[in-house]
Amino acid sequence: MATQLLLVTLLFLSYTLTNVMGDETGFVGSVDPKSLGLDKKQTVSHFKFYWHDIVSGSNATSATIIPSLPKYNTTTSFGMVSVMDNPLTVGPELGSKLVGRAEGFYSFTSQSQLHLSMVMNFALSEGKYNGSSISILGRYVVNDEVKDMPVIGGTGLFRFATGFAEGRTYYSDPNTGDATTEYDIYVLHY
Ligand SMILES: *[C@@H]1O[C@H](CO)[C@@H](O)[C@H](O)[C@H]1NC(C)=O
Ligand SMILES: *[C@@H]1O[C@H](CO)[C@@H](O)[C@H](O)[C@H]1NC(C)=O
Ligand SMILES: *[C@@H]1O[C@H](CO)[C@@H](O)[C@H](O)[C@H]1NC(C)=O
Repeated sequence: MATQLLLVTLLFLSYTLTNVMGDETGFVGSVDPKSLGLDKKQTVSHFKFYWHDIVSGSNATSATIIPSLPKYNTTTSFGMVSVMDNPLTVGPELGSKLVGRAEGFYSFTSQSQLHLSMVMNFALSEGKYNGSSISILGRYVVNDEVKDMPVIGGTGLFRFATGFAEGRTYYSDPNTGDATTEYDIYVLHY
């Protein structure tokens, strides 16, 4: 009986120590998933809003910081990088309710097609989502009717999130370059 108790105590101790000290590297250990809220049921949220990429005028929200490389196919803008702080609104009009901003950058990354690589953090500012953000990293194929991009994570309410975003061009002005994209984002989160 006493031996059994000792064994259990030893097992418990070694378990606790493993958790505190981790492996031999000294900087990694496992944690109880519950302590991070991972025992909660996962939900799927569908966000819908409009993303305004305003490149013209005095109130531009996105700007080219690196021009395209002239020695490559100029019609694909290969090499061009733009940085954005684009408003996200509930409705398609710029004046409709602001729910967040898309901070990030995009670059033209195909030598033969109009393809962009998007790096965006959708920082939400509305209701309980205020302060939380959704991160999108993906390929934006200009000629695709639905631009399919992965949600690779997030902060706040979106820790451990995964999902995808669908972008549809709502409005695009070939003269100014201004564009409004309708975003449907499906996020699996706790
Ligand atoms: C830029 O924003 C200011 C302040 O909201 C506004 O008064 C002005 O008309 C805007 N300019 C343009 C070109 O939209
Ligand atoms: C240049 O880009 C255009 C537009 O995507 C494409 O039609 C064309 O085939 C490209 N040319 C070359 C040489 O890759
Ligand atoms: C979001 O949170 C910030 C910082 O706490 C606060 O200043 C702001 O008013 C909030 N926005 C909304 C729309 O509640």
